[in-house]
Amino acid sequence: MSKFYSLTKSVNSIPLKWYYDLNHFEKEQLKIFNKEWIYVCHENNLKESLSYLTIKVSKVDILILKDKLNVLKAYLNTCRHRGSVICSNQNGKLKNNILICPYHQWSYNASDGKLLKTSSFKIPKNFKISNYGLKKINIKIWNGLIFINLDKKIKWKIKNRFQDYNEIVNKLGIEKYEVAHRWKKIIKCNWKLFWENYSECLHCPNIHPDLTKLVPVYGRRMVDIKDDPNWKKLKKIDHPKFQGGLRKGAETWSFDGSAHGKKIKEVEQSKNFQGFIYITTWPTMFLVIFIDHIRVVRILPKTNSETEVSAEWLFPSDTLKDKNYKIKNVVDFSVKVMSEDSHACELNQQGVYNPAYKTGILMPEEYEIKRFHDWLRKKIKILK
Ligand code: FES
Ligand SMILES: [Fe+2]
Repeated sequence: MSKFYSLTKSVNSIPLKWYYDLNHFEKEQLKIFNKEWIYVCHENNLKESLSYLTIKVSKVDILILKDKLNVLKAYLNTCRHRGSVICSNQNGKLKNNILICPYHQWSYNASDGKLLKTSSFKIPKNFKISNYGLKKINIKIWNGLIFINLDKKIKWKIKNRFQDYNEIVNKLGIEKYEVAHRWKKIIKCNWKLFWENYSECLHCPNIHPDLTKLVPVYGRRMVDIKDDPNWKKLKKIDHPKFQGGLRKGAETWSFDGSAHGKKIKEVEQSKNFQGFIYITTWPTMFLVIFIDHIRVVRILPKTNSETEVSAEWLFPSDTLKDKNYKIKNVVDFSVKVMSEDSHACELNQQGVYNPAYKTGILMPEEYEIKRFHDWLRKKIKILK
């Protein structure tokens, strides 16, 4: 393929109002977050039977648990009596296979959500206990990664699920990887600004000094060598700036570029591997496959101007058993990059409350943002 990726003309961005308007935010919750597959976490966060965690999607509280038979289940975390939350902690362990509401102690079977008992002295004749079970939520485990969907009708389809995809993800046995580190931050920006920042590298040289040294093409303010119309000619120059990938001698995203000899065989042997592979699924997850580990990032809007970003670092268990492997070398490097991005996103948010400007403008390198904006417009059915 010789075609370059960049836009050939500048195009208007989505309206700046979409980054703060409360009505628009509500619309996105209904039309996007209540209908798309939402990433929760790696299934190893729920290793033991009866362990559980909760997650809020829009304002909806969801409970995900491993029942006594070690099967993952997801329910609305809302009691059918008068609506109390059932598990109020972010995670924990049930005493047995029963969920008990902390308010008036209605109890439910953790395996199927059925109401077992109310706490009233008498069950009224017109009250049918079988009508008051917890509502089940669609759950999908994909390569060991848990996704949920608030809309029962939406099926998981691999086709069109991912914006960036690479078959290698299915060959790694990610379900067996260990979650070695977690990081979470509330960023003071609308969730879309985080995705936009993720989609371009115009910002890279001034925001990420270390990353641009590690990935030289980023220093050209490009995410891909094919952003340049002359990329074919330039690719003949023997330098990663023009050929893509990591700087010479580097193996992974880490401070010293080293993977400490711990390589994932399938990644090392994969064709055309240049140091990292992105897999993306809007609106809540991307992961990056490196030669020694995988980083999974989850994006969840909290309010119109606050976004929770969390990351999990996954490693093959052998790597973690090796005492010489310096996990901080990779973890702290990505935390630095994500913190730099967070700061840039917050600056972006501060400026959008400006009634004088209706939209921003997208430049040639921002073709991925254009794709994201087209997707957003389609999802909320505003085509222009
Ligand atoms: S709200 Fe749960 S038992 Fe009353
Ligand atoms: Fe960045």
